[in-house]
Amino acid sequence: MRSALFRADFEAAADGFVGRSQNEILTVSDEAALSGVHALKVEGRTSSWHGPSLDITQKISVGKEYTVSVWVKLIEPEQAQISLSTQIGSGSGASYNNLQSKQVSQNSDWVELRGTYRYLSTDFVSVYVESAVATASFYIDSVSIVEEDSQPAVVEDITPLKNAYTDFFPIGSIASAKDLSGLRLELLTKHFNIVTAENAMKPGELQPRKGEFTFNAADAIVNTMLEHGIAMHGHTLAWHQQTGAWMHTDADGLPLPREEALENLTSHAKTVAEHFKGRVVSWDVLNEAINDGLTAELAADWRASLRNSPWLQAIGDDYIEAVFLAAQEADPDAKLYYNDYNLNNQNKATAVYNMVKELNEKYPGLIDGIGMQGHYDLNTNPADVERSIQQFISLGVEVSITELDISAGTDGRLSDNASLQQALLYARLFSIFRQYKENIGRVSIWGLDDGSSWRADRSPTLFDRSFKAKPAFYAATDPDAFIAEYQQ
Ligand code: XIL
Repeated sequence: MRSALFRADFEAAADGFVGRSQNEILTVSDEAALSGVHALKVEGRTSSWHGPSLDITQKISVGKEYTVSVWVKLIEPEQAQISLSTQIGSGSGASYNNLQSKQVSQNSDWVELRGTYRYLSTDFVSVYVESAVATASFYIDSVSIVEEDSQPAVVEDITPLKNAYTDFFPIGSIASAKDLSGLRLELLTKHFNIVTAENAMKPGELQPRKGEFTFNAADAIVNTMLEHGIAMHGHTLAWHQQTGAWMHTDADGLPLPREEALENLTSHAKTVAEHFKGRVVSWDVLNEAINDGLTAELAADWRASLRNSPWLQAIGDDYIEAVFLAAQEADPDAKLYYNDYNLNNQNKATAVYNMVKELNEKYPGLIDGIGMQGHYDLNTNPADVERSIQQFISLGVEVSITELDISAGTDGRLSDNASLQQALLYARLFSIFRQYKENIGRVSIWGLDDGSSWRADRSPTLFDRSFKAKPAFYAATDPDAFIAEYQQ
């Protein structure tokens, strides 16, 4: 039986909700209400992650699934994306899972955000509402949390995915603190032989404030994986996201002087690469430096195709070679990657091609590989992916598929048909990857199971919320047989 665990109507109090940053202003307000006469008004946000949060650590049981529902009404601005998420763990070991996001407008009536999550640890656990618009304000009302009576998670007795790839390339997954024990670790170690930390090795996690390095959470992941014979890939030494603003921006929001930003960038890269030296086989040195929406003409000039990131603004386009050189100096044995998404787009791929070509001509052997993230959906054309793989290989670098997931379905629901379409696309992609095995470093899936994926609402991984292998798993295991069986 489903059973109600928690309900908040904000008739008299904030019912346990607090601001995630402590700076938000949460007030019980009678200006709007979905039920009763009050709602919780959320103002004073200044960052996208700010918002009302409820600590449910003591309320939940390990292994159970919970459905969380909250109703929201936007106050300002005119439009904003609002998300319901859950946090598992705290500090740099935390993981953040989006349960549902919706685009809402001032004119919309109350809108429900809802999602289901299975908790496999009872370290700190919270549910919260945030908005991609840093300063958006909104009301929330009628929060409910219900314990589901669903199948318990089990690790099935099936052939490990990695065993199907011993003659091809390592098969990867991601990990955060919640994956270091119990069933999650069992599933991870059974099927995968290389791991990327989902968040713990990003700049903002490793050096939140200047000179303050926080390696504990990342070390725990790396050491646990190595103890289980799983290799580690490092992600990421430089990025425009999940990076403390202090690194490149001053208190007034202006770019730091070039030399100061350059020093922050390279000393971070060196310290981090040295710290993990011998424990990681490869690094995403730089993540997502190229723009989207390029024309063919722009893509021919990679400098003109660069994302206008705070790093570019503070340093100039040689920040790219600087961070690769720093990483090379600190860990000459690790394979150094440039990593980006949408590289199945021909123009974006061409800009990356031109950039890597020029840098490797200037500094032979500097960039070892190009990472194609691979956040795909049912419209992705495998031929586009293959064309980019060929283009990158022609540069003499290796290619890895670094963050593969295929979005399908909505609200965490995947119809049998969508599940099959998703599996077919996995099969077509893995069939291509196999053909290029000589030049493919690894293929990593971004998410162990659908329930814990950053796109949990779009069920994009190989395992369902009970850890049961989906058709996508069998498609990845034996792509050609799968295609032969299901080809329409
Ligand atoms: C995502 C994580 O999965 C989320 O938990 C986090 O909130 C945001 O970042 N490209 C990348 C990854 O290189 O680091 C991102 O990971 C997904 C997109």
